[in-house]
Formats: sequence, structure tokens, C-alpha cells
Amino acid sequence: MPNPLNNPADSFDRSARAYDELVARNREGCRRLINSLPEREFPRLVDVGCGTGFATLDAIDRRGAREVICVDPSTGMLDVLGERLAAIPGITADLRPCEVMEMGVEAGWADLVLSTMALHWFTDRPGAIREMANALAPGGVLGILCPGEGHDRPTVDIFEATGDPLLARLAASIVNNQVPVPDLTQWITDAGLTPLDVWSETRYRVVTPQAIADRIEAVATHLWSDLPEGEQAEVLERVRATFAAAADNDGMYRYRFVKTFAVAERPGG
Ligand SMILES: C[S@@+](CC[C@H](N)C(=O)[O-])C[C@H]1O[C@@H](n2cnc3c(N)ncnc32)[C@H](O)[C@@H]1O
Repeated sequence: MPNPLNNPADSFDRSARAYDELVARNREGCRRLINSLPEREFPRLVDVGCGTGFATLDAIDRRGAREVICVDPSTGMLDVLGERLAAIPGITADLRPCEVMEMGVEAGWADLVLSTMALHWFTDRPGAIREMANALAPGGVLGILCPGEGHDRPTVDIFEATGDPLLARLAASIVNNQVPVPDLTQWITDAGLTPLDVWSETRYRVVTPQAIADRIEAVATHLWSDLPEGEQAEVLERVRATFAAAADNDGMYRYRFVKTFAVAERPGG
């Protein structure tokens, strides 16, 4: 298992300026989630684990978000988003550099709470869903996007097969990050929300070994942050070599990316 002292926000502090390019597909996932919300505007938004703001910016563009609270323990990510929000007229933004359980949003404040590709990093996932549900006004909507069951299985298999305990941390983290649809549905229901739609999508991807290694470097360096710097660099080299060795004859790496989505509503609107 990954060292529990290692903090995911450390990875995102390091990758904040390059993040958008390295994980461009997260933006497409956000778009699909926001497409699936009920057809109306949501003036007050909370974005939890907001990163550089894929979800916030899309909700501003397409769902009438005007007052936004953006929560993320990575100040590097919040800095990037803060610059973007400052350039958009008519937006009131409150950036909170903290983790979900400390976000302190006033109960019933939000029309919409979004959390995209972040729930899997939260230590207490059902507790985080309760916290987000509590922020919603009656009739308010929760939208979640996270890795799903069976996510990135080929990568888990090749890293487990190396027998290298440091590389096994990556395999364990990918498995730990998976959020099955039934679990998410249960947490949403337990938090007093009505699930409107909970589903998963499987996509088969073909990328260069370098692109997948760059992506891992953007989101997962915290897994080795307890090691001396030289050793961290060596582990990342072994990650790159493992992906390169797993490429097919055409030089491309093939993997399966599964995402879990949820849209839920607070009753009483
Ligand atoms: C993969 S990024 C996703 C960013 C953005 N939502 C997106 O869709 O691209 C995950 C984000 O969750 C943040 N995060 C990690 N642990 C968190 C926690 N306990 N509470 C809130 N955010 C957290 C990280 O700092 C990071 O910015």
C-alpha cells in the first residue's frame, strides 16, 4: 500500500503548471458530467478538489455559475485557477486551500457541488460525500467523476509483475483509487441525496509510453515522496522503462480507462 503519510496534494503542487496538458482527458470527462446535469443554471457552485478548474470553468461557461467556492489543499493548483478566474468578469471566487473535510461551506449554500477526479484521493470518501451533500440547498445537485472499477487494469498488472516493491505502490494506488458504482450510490443515498444517475464508462486508449508515464508523473509522485530525491528520480525512470517495455509492436501502449459518474439531488427543492 502507498505510505499514508504521502500526500496527494504534493504531486499536484509539482505538476500544477503542466497539469492541463498532461491530463487533457480529465477535461473531456468533466464536460460529459456537466452535460448530464439537470437542464438549468446553477449560480452558486462549490468545486471540491478543483485543481486548475476544469469543472469550475465549464460550469461558469455553460451552467451560469457566478459565485464559486473552490477547495483544494494544493496551493499550486489554486494559484493557476485563481489567475483564470480573475480574468473572467462577474465572478465572485472564494479559493479555499484546505481539504474537503475542512472546507466549511455554509450548510445549504450551494446550487451545485462538483468533484471531478478527486474523490479517490480523499481519505474518508463517504464522509466527503456527506460534507458535500450538507453544502447543497434543497433541490441542489451533486456531480461526481472519479476512476471506476477495473480502471487501468493493464497498468496494475505490469507494475505488479515487476516484483519491485516501489513500483508496486503505483499498482496498489490505482486499485485503491477505484470507486465502484454500487459504493458511490450507497454513499450518496446515506448522505440523504437522491441518485438521479450513476454510471460508469470504459474507454480503450492508445498512447505513447511517454504520454502515459508523463501522466503518472503528473498525478502520482507523492507515492514516493518519502524517498530521498535521487531515489525518487530512479523510481520514475523505472516507471518509464516499464511502460516502454509494455508497448505493442507498433510502439504504442494500450490501456483501459474506467470512470464512474454520479448525478444526485438534495430532496426538497
Ligand atoms: C486529479 S486532480 C483533479 C483536479 C480537477 N478537479 C480536474 O478534474 O482536473 C485531484 C485534485 O484533488 C486534490 N485533493 C487531493 N486530496 C484532497 C482532499 N483531501 N480534499 C480536497 N482536494 C484534494 C488535489 O490536490 C488535486 O488538485
